[in-house]
Amino acid sequence: MINDLWYKNAIIYSLSVATFMDSNGDGIGDFVGLMRRLDYLQGLGVTAIWLMPFQVSPQRDDGYDIADYYGVDPRYGTFGDFVEFTHAAKQRGIRVLIDLVVNHTSNEHPWFLDARGDPSSKYRDWYIWSDTRPADANKGMVFPGVQKSTWTYEETAKAWYFHRFYDFQPDLNTANPAVQAEIFKIMGFWIQLGVSGFRMDAVPFVIAKKGADVRRPTEQYAMLREFREFLQWRQGDSIVLGEANVLAKNDMEYFGDAGDRLHMMFNFQVNQHLFYALASADTRPLVKAMEATKPRPVTGQWGMFLRNHDELDLGRLTDAQRRTVFAAFGPDKDMQLYDRGIRRRLAPMLGGDQRRLELAYSLMFTLPGTPVIRYGDEIGMGDDLSLPERTCARTPMQWSNEPHGGFTKSDKPLSPVISGGPYGYEHINAAIQRRHPDSLLNWTERIIRMRKEVPEVGWGDFSVIDTGDRAVLVIRYDWRNNSVLFVHNFHAEPREIAFAVGLTGDNAEHGKLLINLLSEDHSRAGGNGKHQIVIEAYGYRWYRVGGLDYLLRRTEAGGGPAGTGARSG
Ligand code: NOJ
Ligand code: CA
Repeated sequence: MINDLWYKNAIIYSLSVATFMDSNGDGIGDFVGLMRRLDYLQGLGVTAIWLMPFQVSPQRDDGYDIADYYGVDPRYGTFGDFVEFTHAAKQRGIRVLIDLVVNHTSNEHPWFLDARGDPSSKYRDWYIWSDTRPADANKGMVFPGVQKSTWTYEETAKAWYFHRFYDFQPDLNTANPAVQAEIFKIMGFWIQLGVSGFRMDAVPFVIAKKGADVRRPTEQYAMLREFREFLQWRQGDSIVLGEANVLAKNDMEYFGDAGDRLHMMFNFQVNQHLFYALASADTRPLVKAMEATKPRPVTGQWGMFLRNHDELDLGRLTDAQRRTVFAAFGPDKDMQLYDRGIRRRLAPMLGGDQRRLELAYSLMFTLPGTPVIRYGDEIGMGDDLSLPERTCARTPMQWSNEPHGGFTKSDKPLSPVISGGPYGYEHINAAIQRRHPDSLLNWTERIIRMRKEVPEVGWGDFSVIDTGDRAVLVIRYDWRNNSVLFVHNFHAEPREIAFAVGLTGDNAEHGKLLINLLSEDHSRAGGNGKHQIVIEAYGYRWYRVGGLDYLLRRTEAGGGPAGTGARSG
């Protein structure tokens, strides 16, 4: 039964309908356009799409301000288009996850309008009110520097309302049973229309105690179990992937000791320390973060990502570590955001260096969890820092070198396509890369294919193998008598390392062959049972441990000595 947990080894691709593909030339992406690009996604090897919010919304936070949970924003299409899309995805073996944004609504949601207009409205208690300005009204902002407070006075209501995010996003009173029932109804609705689950927005805030008298917003973890129970009762294989940037010590509260809460969570700890490792070539804090987030139930899973649609949040690093990442990847003030993060896309952060991009992606695909790709990263898209806040990394997908990157026929795309310079659509686009075997696009397709052949990563448990070199990370996975081993060099120089593959001090294991999964460059242990490897700058290796000795013998018989193959990375 457990093999059925599709999310354990999925390839998730996140995109916004608005910026992916416009089919009718109004400058706004839509479901028909997205549907036409499903073959592209299937070709890449994607097995699940995570859609950013597409419901009716005034669009003041790119749809994270919803005004009707039961409607498709007409700019993106109709319900008919949506259902056609989920069906077309299903035909290609692609599942659909959607954002579930229920910490707050838009302030234009009819519930809020009703609530503020009439103290006796049944919706009044769906939000969080205070007659006086709470003492901590200027604390706890999620977007410091942009967001001024967490409580705002509402003229009509003559009261203050609570908003963890922007003032146009009033928080729902999620402790209210009527609100909870509505959340179930929303989940049930979209499940019925063909989705396989939800990326739940802002989980710690959804389950926090809210109110003017709340000093410390403690989490009501039991709610998570109720969400899951409801969902699995309706459709057994649907999941919740939680956005919860929390301390490692609280992870199990979110997963549930019995595996009865969230199915998946994004691993923000590993994400931040991974960027530190990329910036400093010191993998020790990354290893610590991996070890700290190791505990999870058998049915639980981490979502591994590099960049997402928000800023790269570095709030969990020490000040010194954050300074190091800023210096390497976002030195200008304009590249930074909310006093804690970097708003750039991945490719510009890594200087457009394909070696480093491959290294980063190779890590994302082999760190313990399920990879979550951000649209456009597969072709190395850039950002437009002239756009405000996080919008800079949300520009339209670059399909070709036709006007507006082939995204739209309109002369007024809702957000400008990146044009000119090293990341302009003239050079960086899917059509050009499709034709070049060594392009990032084709590399990504190949690495995804190989990732699917190493289910050990999703299922197994990892161990970090000592190399004596902090710049080189060697991790091994074991599952059902199969083992794989991944080597990553974070350094800008080649490194020579020696390591033993064995976990137990069992010498026979140490001496095992390492079959290179990406090239002919296999590795055989020396006399001391150790593998000696010279790994190029930013290099990476994917090995299967032992087992397929015949492969190596065949290579040797074929003439060329094993170990002199092409660069795998
Ligand atoms: C987290 C989302 O990722 C972000 O984009 C959004 O602004 C906030 N939640 C508020 O919904
Ligand atoms: Ca359109």
